[in-house]
Amino acid sequence: MNLRRSKMWADDAAAALLDRLHERPEMRMCLATGSTPLPMYGRLAQSPDAFAAAAVLLLDEFGDLPADEPASCDATLRRALIDHVRPADYRAIVTAHPGEPAAVDAWIDAGGLDLAVLGIGVNGHLGMNEPGAPADGRTARVDLAPTTMEGAQRYFEGRARPTWGVTVGLGDLLAAGEVWVLAAGESKADIVRRSTDGPVTTAVPASLLQRHPNVTWWLDR
Ligand code: GLP
Repeated sequence: MNLRRSKMWADDAAAALLDRLHERPEMRMCLATGSTPLPMYGRLAQSPDAFAAAAVLLLDEFGDLPADEPASCDATLRRALIDHVRPADYRAIVTAHPGEPAAVDAWIDAGGLDLAVLGIGVNGHLGMNEPGAPADGRTARVDLAPTTMEGAQRYFEGRARPTWGVTVGLGDLLAAGEVWVLAAGESKADIVRRSTDGPVTTAVPASLLQRHPNVTWWLDR
């Protein structure tokens, strides 16, 4: 496990991602939204050609949102990155389709994931894989934990109160060639410590990453 603590974490992570893309332009990656990765996406958006051969899968999406909700994970990732870099393939998650989890799994099975770029919830969730989610889980419709619903309010400003979502499962995240977790701010300090140094348990989904051979935590000071 690689712990990188820096004031410049967003620049450093963006530079590392551009390096990876340089080595492997057709890289297949799964990307998180939330607020944490946005500064990194802002840097990447300035390299519009880097993603020309890449394939991007959205990590998760909230259920029951109006189609034009600007804070959906899809709209957030498009605005921050996708619209600027236009990857060869971009796969969002349409939560209203009952067959969507299987279709997302088929996308993953078509070539695997070289890299998963994740944030972390204050309860240790990865994507919408809340405490107790199975370590070998695949894409699924899931209920959100109370802290996740509360936290989501800052994105929706009262317009929506999602209680569920569809997320790529822990099994596929743990099978990715490389996993990055981005975490910044005092509120994440405790859960980062528990995930990196605490017991490996499904009660703290991010702790399962201790078993992954190639994980980098990009942290602010
Ligand atoms: C959300 C998302 C996660 C995200 C996390 C942290 O609920 N489902 O994918 O990483 O919570 O969000 P933020 O980066 O805004 O703190």
